[in-house]
Amino acid sequence: MSNFNSPEVAVIPAAGKGTRFLPSTKATPKELHPLLSKPLLHHSMEELKEAGVKEIILVNHPEKKGLNKYFEPHDELKSVVSSKPELLEALDSVEALPKMTMVYQNEQKGLAHAISCATEAINGRNFFVLLPDEIFIPQTLNENPSKALAESYKESGTSVISLLEVPKDQVSSYGVAKFEDNDGQIKIVDLVEKPKIEDAPSNLILPGRYLFDNKILDWIQKTPERNGEVQLTDAMVSMSKEQGLNGLITDCPRFDGGSVLGFLKANIFAGLKDDKISSDLRLFIEQAL
Ligand code: G1P
Repeated sequence: MSNFNSPEVAVIPAAGKGTRFLPSTKATPKELHPLLSKPLLHHSMEELKEAGVKEIILVNHPEKKGLNKYFEPHDELKSVVSSKPELLEALDSVEALPKMTMVYQNEQKGLAHAISCATEAINGRNFFVLLPDEIFIPQTLNENPSKALAESYKESGTSVISLLEVPKDQVSSYGVAKFEDNDGQIKIVDLVEKPKIEDAPSNLILPGRYLFDNKILDWIQKTPERNGEVQLTDAMVSMSKEQGLNGLITDCPRFDGGSVLGFLKANIFAGLKDDKISSDLRLFIEQAL
């Protein structure tokens, strides 16, 4: 029996400079880089919609105007493609996304600071957080990592974050979990942000999908800055000790969309799964090798 209501609001931090993708990110926010024909951000919002989200708070930067533009209606374009149902459908898919609220982060002061910029818009509700450059490509609804968090929360009423197993030599780029496994229920005991390999408590990393009780915002507020940044990981450690925080391992195919290689892999993976282009793409890859 499901007892708890999972959140209907989500925060997507998108104010970063995307330096790993320069010079493209000079003009195009990395959140608008496409996975096939849809921007990463669009995919993120569809993932959240499937998880029951009705409102998305986008934490933008004043200079990333492309993000605003993507959500503006475009009547001229609509009339240009009016006789082409497939293209009309593509345009309409933007309007079918959950309601968007835009807030701004003017300074780069860490992930927790980005989330705290959304405090007023969150307005006391529990919420998801999704990092849009962490690309998940679910093959079934059940693989959707945000939906999986929602299902877990409905059962337990406890904040819960996705965990992903990676080879040990990759842990230093991520938040890493120390956990207890109680008959399949994973309880977070500690988290370490970007540890040295030898200090990592496990090879389960945090791949950017979170479902939080609103109290996380209090812990964020109490978290001191380290090297000019407020780390979400520090606030989650307080939450795990004082209120409880669960982990949920995801098996969904996942790619680092902030790096050129990860982004390319994601597009090839998605292309190979796409009915319209997969056979041509497969042939091209075979010939190119
Ligand atoms: C952030 C988080 C880290 C998480 C990662 C996922 O790091 O701080 O815990 O594992 O995102 O991509 P960033 O990559 O923004 O430095």
